[in-house]
Amino acid sequence: MNIIPMPVRVEPLEGSFVLTADSVIVAGPGTLEKAEQLAAFLRPATGFALPMLEESSGVPAIYLMLDDRLKGLGVEGYELEVLSSGVKLRASSLAGLFYAGQSLRQLLPIEIFSDPRVEKVWQVNAVSISDQPRFGWRGVHLDCCRHFMPLEFVFKLLDLMALHKLNTFHWHLTEDQGWRLEIKKYPKLTEVGAWRAQTIIGHGYQTDPKFDGKPHGGFYTQDQARAVVKYAAELHITVVPEIELPGHAQAAIAAYPELGNTGAQLKVGERWGIIEHVLNPNESTMQFLQDVFSEVLEIFPGTYIHVGGDECPKNEWKASPVAQARMQELGLHDEHELQSYFIRRMDAFLTARGRKLIGWDEILEGGLSPNATVHSWRGEEGGIEAARQGHDVVMAPQSHVYFDHYQAADQAREPLAIGGHSPLEKVYGYEPIPAQLSSQEAKHVLGSQAQMWTEYVPTVSHAEYMLFPRLCALCEVLWTPANRKDFVGFSGRLLPHLERLSLKNVNFRPLD
Ligand code: ACM
Repeated sequence: MNIIPMPVRVEPLEGSFVLTADSVIVAGPGTLEKAEQLAAFLRPATGFALPMLEESSGVPAIYLMLDDRLKGLGVEGYELEVLSSGVKLRASSLAGLFYAGQSLRQLLPIEIFSDPRVEKVWQVNAVSISDQPRFGWRGVHLDCCRHFMPLEFVFKLLDLMALHKLNTFHWHLTEDQGWRLEIKKYPKLTEVGAWRAQTIIGHGYQTDPKFDGKPHGGFYTQDQARAVVKYAAELHITVVPEIELPGHAQAAIAAYPELGNTGAQLKVGERWGIIEHVLNPNESTMQFLQDVFSEVLEIFPGTYIHVGGDECPKNEWKASPVAQARMQELGLHDEHELQSYFIRRMDAFLTARGRKLIGWDEILEGGLSPNATVHSWRGEEGGIEAARQGHDVVMAPQSHVYFDHYQAADQAREPLAIGGHSPLEKVYGYEPIPAQLSSQEAKHVLGSQAQMWTEYVPTVSHAEYMLFPRLCALCEVLWTPANRKDFVGFSGRLLPHLERLSLKNVNFRPLD
């Protein structure tokens, strides 16, 4: 039984089911779309027609059934029963049926993941599974700004997330070094902001850094972003777009210098790190942000909208008479309160439109906005503090779930990375609920996610190398009950799972 993430309850039964050219799929009321999707997963490798029927016809069948009695398993839970007479997928929701199908794929011989057809006895040992996730926020973040990631990779990552029962795609779309989403009202954001002239080589800590001299860029049209949202929804994944403010905004300021504090014509960023240039707090900038978010809300229907909020140096505001006058006018005591003002304005804007703001843990500084969810990255302290204040939290400490960190202690063995050391076992051992929280406070921890920053990850195959197999470990952290986690057992299941990833052409990092 090689399912990753490990289900909650697995009971082996006698006998086995064999999927054959005669097998059919029986789609109960309301399940046809999920039945078609499951058939599409099973057809390439088997070459079987797997026709859809509305009722059982006596031949071996896979049954999909919506059943309200399974509501106790939550909105993503399911039951999967494999008997020699047939396979039954049951859930109270389409998401649950989808996850039952993902488990069934992993119960079949590994070759089911082949795209070319394979000759095989498609046998599944009889089993009864009852399953539901531990956390509702099971995410992956992808920085498409430091290096532009082609649309095909976004789709591939969504497929791989679904296989691992991950449900939240945090799409990092704006940065100092590139703005990646078409905004119709402000075309220069992508005409200018999506392209940088060159990129720093290496870490660039040296005083005289070298640059590669090669232009880099790209962006997603609104239609492309909508296609991502639609494709993700079919895989029961919500897309959380991130538009960074008030820092990490140099590309926007390069496109529209009036957004900055100095009026200077900036370049789109070419080096990494924390950049001094940040948005000014003028009302015209608030209007710009609201205009941008208005378009973002039209593209992304999910509840959460990420506004960044991290790493915003305050020096330009300190030096700017305009920013200082604005602070006085608003009755703000320091620049932290000014940063908080940006977040409060966006919180009010998003809340009025039925959405929820999420931001990196710096949004705690200067006072947390009333409806904000905190994305705790500089450790867990920010998340603990926010949960104690009654706010929801996504735990993403860089110590454990920053997948831009090294996978080996000996860095010379690995491609250049930002730093750190987060091997597979450390990721697997991550516990998203800090021991300091009471059970009431712990309810505010929505879950966790992988961070895939791409300063040092210029290609898709390199991104896959950093993501896998660590994402296999993280999905089990997020899905499987803590008392069922077991690194030795996981490692055993991972071996065949890596063969699946090979069949899906994933450039995972080999095990040590
Ligand atoms: C971050 O890593 N700056 C959120």
